[in-house]
Amino acid sequence: MDPWVQEWANLAVRWAHVLAGILWIGDSFLFIWLDARLSEPRRPLEGDVVGEMRMAHGGGFYEVVKRRSLTEIPPDLAWFKWESYSTWITGFLLLIIVYWAGGRAMLLDAASPLSHGAAVGIGLGGLALGTAVYHALCRTPLIRDPRAFGAVGLALLLAVAWGSTQVFTPRAAFIQVGALLGTVMASNVFFVIIPAQAHMLASTAAGTPVDTSYGARAKQRSVHNHYLTLPVLFTMVSNHFPSLYGNATPWLVLALVVVVGVGVKYAMNFRGRSHPLALGGTAAALVAVMAMTRPAVPASPGVDAALAASPPVSFATADAILRARCVSCHAAAPTDPAFAAPPLGVVLDSPEQVRAHADRIAVRAVQTRTMPLGNLTGMTDAERALLGAWIAQGADTSAPGPARLPPAAAPMASPEAASP
Ligand code: HEC
Repeated sequence: MDPWVQEWANLAVRWAHVLAGILWIGDSFLFIWLDARLSEPRRPLEGDVVGEMRMAHGGGFYEVVKRRSLTEIPPDLAWFKWESYSTWITGFLLLIIVYWAGGRAMLLDAASPLSHGAAVGIGLGGLALGTAVYHALCRTPLIRDPRAFGAVGLALLLAVAWGSTQVFTPRAAFIQVGALLGTVMASNVFFVIIPAQAHMLASTAAGTPVDTSYGARAKQRSVHNHYLTLPVLFTMVSNHFPSLYGNATPWLVLALVVVVGVGVKYAMNFRGRSHPLALGGTAAALVAVMAMTRPAVPASPGVDAALAASPPVSFATADAILRARCVSCHAAAPTDPAFAAPPLGVVLDSPEQVRAHADRIAVRAVQTRTMPLGNLTGMTDAERALLGAWIAQGADTSAPGPARLPPAAAPMASPEAASP
């Protein structure tokens, strides 16, 4: 895809996706909150009224009454389904624009034997299969026990996260898992929640008694969706956090953050009535994942004694490595055909620019090994160590010194490899 077209398609769809997601998750939060309030009625309820409450907002007062059924179908009934559908549609488009139509390096490590097409096929198949497994699980007796269902769900998620990191680059794997969670959520709305409501309305129209088990099932799925909101939001912002997806066991990081997300939502819903064990588990997961992502090599130059004490590395060496492995993308005018402009504005052309980015270079190329993207340019371990040593020794760009390149510092891979 032409990089300029891709940039604009990316912006337009991302903008819509964020907006739709805010609306959908906002609805989810509002209705779960409403239901919690409605289930604590302050006066006796009549007929099929489940609960009622009053709210102040925007210079007026709203009186909300929830009923299990209606006697007739109001012409102005609001459905709340397009927030969900449009979030999924824009999300799927974004997956295509950024990962599937982007360069191979967006999905796969350069060393992976898979073709770009095969990776896209696995991604697509994974979404369909994962969603089908979730719906099958909902048809087992497990669904009656939320804790057991949650435990099995988490085990499956762990398996999916592990499998995804075996196929994709960790960054793409996080998005793949997020896309699966989002697909499960949207499919709940499309296949269960909206049809259940339509069925209840059809009974109303036909004048037959409304089977409220449909409503109960829809509610259950909407609660599942609700608990997935924070995990799915994390996966969506996760690609800004290389120290998380760049961890040695990224699937475990992902699973722990999902536990934290579900736990935080639980605490938000139950507040003072939260079970201490659930709160303790959430806190433990957070501490564990924070400890796991603490780099073995501290980020600040000069702090790491081992690298700092290794034989001095000259700027000429570091610069030659950056030139061979990074500037095809990180230049004012990238030569990599997949990028019209340097990614995130990071340019490594001049010594000043390299110095300014030294800390992040250490994080991305030495500690988390999340750069070069998909290791497209074939950076070697020896080069990472040399670059790390140069930064740990103070990232001095003033003394050029002799270049000391390891034998493997061959010219970078051909730019064709990057083209979408
Ligand atoms: C094939 C293109 C490509 C190559 C080669 C490449 N990068 Fe990147 N780089 C990207 C993209 C895309 C992003 C933005 C996405 C991201 O942050 O993962 C990025 C972002 C960055 C950032 C900014 C994000 C942050 O965490 O601060 C730094 C720093 C960086 N790269 C350093 C490097 C270094 C050092 C090398 C060489 C060892 C390198 N890159 C090689 C594509 C590339």
